[in-house]
Amino acid sequence: MSGGVATETSPTPAQSDVAEPTPWWRSAVTYQLYIRSFADGNGDGLGDIAGIRSRLPYLAALGVDAVWVNPWYPSPQADGGYDVADYSDIDPAFGTLAEAQELLDEAHALGLKVILDIVPNHTSDEHAWFRAALAAGPGSPERERYIFRPGKGPDGALPPNNWRAVFGGPAWEQVVEPDGTPGEWYLHLFDPKQPDLNWDDPAVRTEFLDILRFWFDRGADGFRIDVAHGLVKDSTLPDLADDQDHVLGATGREDHPHWDLPGVHDIYRGWRTLAEQYDPPKVYVAEAWVFNAARLAAYLRPDELHTAFDFDFVRAPWDAAQLRATAASSLAAHDAVGAPVMWVLSNHDITRHVTRLGRPQLAAGEAGLHGVHGTVDLELGRRRARAALLLELALPGGVYLYQGEELGLEEVEDLPEELLQDPTWERSGRTERGRDGCRVPLPWAEEGLSLGFGGTAPWLPQPAGWAALSVQAQEHDPASMLSFYRRALRLRRDVPGLGAGDGTSVTWLDLGPDVVAFRREPGFACVVNLGATAVDLPDGEVIVSSDPALDHASRAGGTLSLPTDNAVWLHLT
Ligand code: GLC
Repeated sequence: MSGGVATETSPTPAQSDVAEPTPWWRSAVTYQLYIRSFADGNGDGLGDIAGIRSRLPYLAALGVDAVWVNPWYPSPQADGGYDVADYSDIDPAFGTLAEAQELLDEAHALGLKVILDIVPNHTSDEHAWFRAALAAGPGSPERERYIFRPGKGPDGALPPNNWRAVFGGPAWEQVVEPDGTPGEWYLHLFDPKQPDLNWDDPAVRTEFLDILRFWFDRGADGFRIDVAHGLVKDSTLPDLADDQDHVLGATGREDHPHWDLPGVHDIYRGWRTLAEQYDPPKVYVAEAWVFNAARLAAYLRPDELHTAFDFDFVRAPWDAAQLRATAASSLAAHDAVGAPVMWVLSNHDITRHVTRLGRPQLAAGEAGLHGVHGTVDLELGRRRARAALLLELALPGGVYLYQGEELGLEEVEDLPEELLQDPTWERSGRTERGRDGCRVPLPWAEEGLSLGFGGTAPWLPQPAGWAALSVQAQEHDPASMLSFYRRALRLRRDVPGLGAGDGTSVTWLDLGPDVVAFRREPGFACVVNLGATAVDLPDGEVIVSSDPALDHASRAGGTLSLPTDNAVWLHLT
């Protein structure tokens, strides 16, 4: 999509001569707005809708096609807004419904789509439904909306099974009944303040269709679905042999009793039907941490969801063989259902990739996403981050960027313990620091107490070094990360052959074991060097490179070589 008034579709060269244009979401670059930390319009230290609205021109100039806004609903904020007390309103700390409407309209006027975040696995314990369930007591229809069970043991004092909560501790909490006696237990796969809904209850299904409709009618272009793989549980609630499963990783087994059960697919068929009732149809992107690429693709069958984040790619270490194998298997699995891959490097739940890529690389898996190991070389991490951006932008499909990655921000790993807000910290018995380090408010200016974020004291403190990474510091520096992102995003729109496409639009090139290289027509190649020595490039002209020394170079008459931990886009000659 180019700037200006929103267009619903963007014909790609490959398809411009056929009747059906390519829907925008098959190739869009979407910018994730973690609202608490993007920009603070009212100066209270917490990001808000006013802050986002004031920075929409920045996002349009960056060259993204869409934004995804993390939950902005009324919430006690026990889990950064993923504990929703009312799905059809705005938390006063973020603004008002009227402001949300303004944001939707202004974004659309700039040509930006807006994806919202729906949290269907659980509500807040302060949601009216949960309060009613507590008040109504055992056996009531109100309790049916959640997963209440009697405890085990003679006096019911033990949890119904051994499931563990993602943030730590048991996944069950015992309630006090209205008459003051110790009562039933309710399931919470996350924090105790996030009771899991019972998706076998028809009232839950109807309610969520109404919520989706509420926001679609106001102009939301789609929804990111939180914990999309968690909604349905094995109703026999069997004990888990391995009680250490963690949501933000492969589930580790194919037949898990509360992740990725077949019943979830029926729910999404209903959601798709609703999306198709709009013109243009609305769009979904799933957050689903599942066993493998084929299990992810099952969510993307033609009558289910449109897209899902590709976490296999996120979990792959900086290793040519593994990155290439992961990309190829993701493309193949998505091709089988006709869905585009959504490439991701960072989000609000995992260590920022500048830091991950600057660390000694672990084998593929979840450890690298959260772990603190080895020493971090941020210069190396930033070099690899540039190369990784060129790689994901050149692959067919869409891309999700996480706010601040365009500034090269690193994970903040030394936040004072007393400021940590992620429930993981307390629930893990203060052994896991959690995800606050990737949620530190953005630096917009070189000076001021919040580096232009807004107000005097942001909700988490910014490192002193971030003045030099602020938008202001980078904006007019052609060598900065921000300028590099802008250039790459612009080129992705302009270079023929990039954007939408399936796995068959990629021809892998063999330039050695430590190189990821592929060709897309007409005459485009992306080469990433993950080895320890420089690599000779095929004949061609450089379109853009993570190594500025290569920019605008051409091989005419000599050899062009790509240094280690760099990437390049070429026009092959
Ligand atoms: C998802 C969100 C994460 C949240 C969790 C529970 O994984 O991305 O931030 O804590 O769901 O809602």
